[in-house]
Amino acid sequence: MRVLGIESSCDETGIAIVDDGRHVIVHGLSSQADIHARFGGVVPEIASRQHLLTFPTLLRDVMQRHDGDLNLDAIAVTYGPGLAGSLLVGVNFAKALAMAWDLPLYGIHHLEGHVYANWIADGQWDSELRGDPLLPSVALIVSGGHTDIVLVEEHGNYRLLSETRDDAAGEAFDKVARLLGLGYPGGPIIERVAKEATDPVRFPSPLIRDSWDFSFSGLKTAVLRVVNERGGTDALSGEDVANIAAGFQQTAVVGLADRLLEVARATKAKSVMLSGGVAANSALGEEVLRKADMPVWRPRPGLCTDNGVMIAARAAFVIENGAQPDDGSLDAVPSLRMTA
Ligand code: KG4
Ligand code: ZN
Repeated sequence: MRVLGIESSCDETGIAIVDDGRHVIVHGLSSQADIHARFGGVVPEIASRQHLLTFPTLLRDVMQRHDGDLNLDAIAVTYGPGLAGSLLVGVNFAKALAMAWDLPLYGIHHLEGHVYANWIADGQWDSELRGDPLLPSVALIVSGGHTDIVLVEEHGNYRLLSETRDDAAGEAFDKVARLLGLGYPGGPIIERVAKEATDPVRFPSPLIRDSWDFSFSGLKTAVLRVVNERGGTDALSGEDVANIAAGFQQTAVVGLADRLLEVARATKAKSVMLSGGVAANSALGEEVLRKADMPVWRPRPGLCTDNGVMIAARAAFVIENGAQPDDGSLDAVPSLRMTA
């Protein structure tokens, strides 16, 4: 089963071919981060227009690098959740390709895609880990728009057990980076700056008591308070920035890791999986690995952030499970929920 996966839910344009849901044949990715950085975050209309410009050249690049018959069985595309305009460009491009090449088209849930980056055989951060994740598994999905914990019992059968009640973890990284006068996207910059910390600031946990849910807005407000106490963004010294960044990152990472493992133990899961852009954070991976009493699947950073590989990987299992291809009615669903 060879699938071409298309991703354009936010500011990354991705096209990839994956065999059997596990083996990457070609991986094409183009990031718009530099374009949005000057605005301090993703500008939706610019993102859609940029996908429109990038798709044809990225496809040509993927086909040239593949060098031979693509031998495709299907096309798969992210149809939600994400930015409406960005999704529409990807879905429309995928429909045109499927029609031109006479292939079945499958709409893929972006967050399910993130989780299935864990099935990419050579895509693991820890190279000693081989084979499919052990099921049932508990997946932490931490991206710019979501912070979910999902119990995956088997393919296509999962339950949402925890979510954020306000900001997503990635959103908090991006907002805190802005408060500290750092650039966009905030996650990788905070991770780098935090390494210079001498005395990390202590912040309140993002864990809600008596529930498995998260709340990141209190943590973000606590960072704002400390920044204001020290005279505002422009008055912060390099040391202040590093200590606030490290304290925020540590608090976020400990909260995410502790809750993931708490849910995994309570549900007697055989493994845990990390996924989504924030899973590219090495402090998060290390915290989970250090505390876990079960195997941890963790895609390497380039497969944690948005890409076409994860969409093609998820599609292989969706197709295997007997899903019907698009009958022409596939549409973008910006606020698609995480339910099986
Ligand atoms: O999954 P993703 O690429 O896009 C969405 O589906 O939202 O996640 C993007 C988010 C951004 O908020 C970004 O700051 C965060 O992932 N991120 C990180 C790191 N790399 C990306 N957060 C923390 N540490 C990182 N190394
Ligand atoms: Zn994503």
